[in-house]
Amino acid sequence: MSQSEDSSVLRKPYIAANWKMNLDRAKALDLTKTLKARLGDGDDREVAVFAPFVYLADVAAVSQGSPIGLGAQNVHWEKSGAFTGETSAPMLRDVGVDRVLIGHSERRQIFLEKEEWMGRKIRQALDHDILPMLCVGETLDERKKGKVAAVLRRQVRSALDWVEASEIHRLCIAYEPIWAIGTGEVATPDQASEAHSIVRDVIADMFGDAVAGSFRVLYGGSVSKDNVRDLMSVPDVDGVLVGGASLKAETFLPIIEYDR
Ligand code: 13P
Repeated sequence: MSQSEDSSVLRKPYIAANWKMNLDRAKALDLTKTLKARLGDGDDREVAVFAPFVYLADVAAVSQGSPIGLGAQNVHWEKSGAFTGETSAPMLRDVGVDRVLIGHSERRQIFLEKEEWMGRKIRQALDHDILPMLCVGETLDERKKGKVAAVLRRQVRSALDWVEASEIHRLCIAYEPIWAIGTGEVATPDQASEAHSIVRDVIADMFGDAVAGSFRVLYGGSVSKDNVRDLMSVPDVDGVLVGGASLKAETFLPIIEYDR
């Protein structure tokens, strides 16, 4: 197998839905049923939904027997304790969650989550067999000031401090430029390509080229059926993390089923 074939096998296209604080129980379960009925065996692309905490157990029950991955949108860095309002990795595991978003910009910006928490959350997730998806990305102001590379390097380095090279394949990173989230303004393929190669370079620096070559970096920010193909044709883009367009089958299915 050549190196490029090898990395395309390891880097299976990954289409993920971040439902954020949207949908109600009936809609979440309906959408899950529709996805389950439409997805094949999941051999050629990986699909996951990151659902609100209160619906996780129900979505797990409905998606059982399908290849749909089930994710939470946050996790605490301790496994139990006096942390009112928080949810631990063992609790998530207990209800069938197999992956989790860490450091989404809405958590960082609105809920003031600190950069130094991310590494501990990743450690906690990995220790409980939950696959972390670390979210990174710059603000518009940081982009205008030419700080994209510095911001991404800092975010990735600090979050991966407690991870071993042998664990890196269980993790992925979503590059989500904050100015593109929920705005309808999507990064151009060139902008995505540049950011994704910065992320991959940091992984190469920290863990070596072979690890970086098999590592998946997703793009998020105003992904739709109209732009998914262009984004996915960028060599360093291995998947998409979809917000608004993931809330309805008619907007999410065409993204999952984009033409390669
Ligand atoms: P939108 O697709 O609504 O821009 O949201 C992106 C996002 O934040 C996914 O995590």
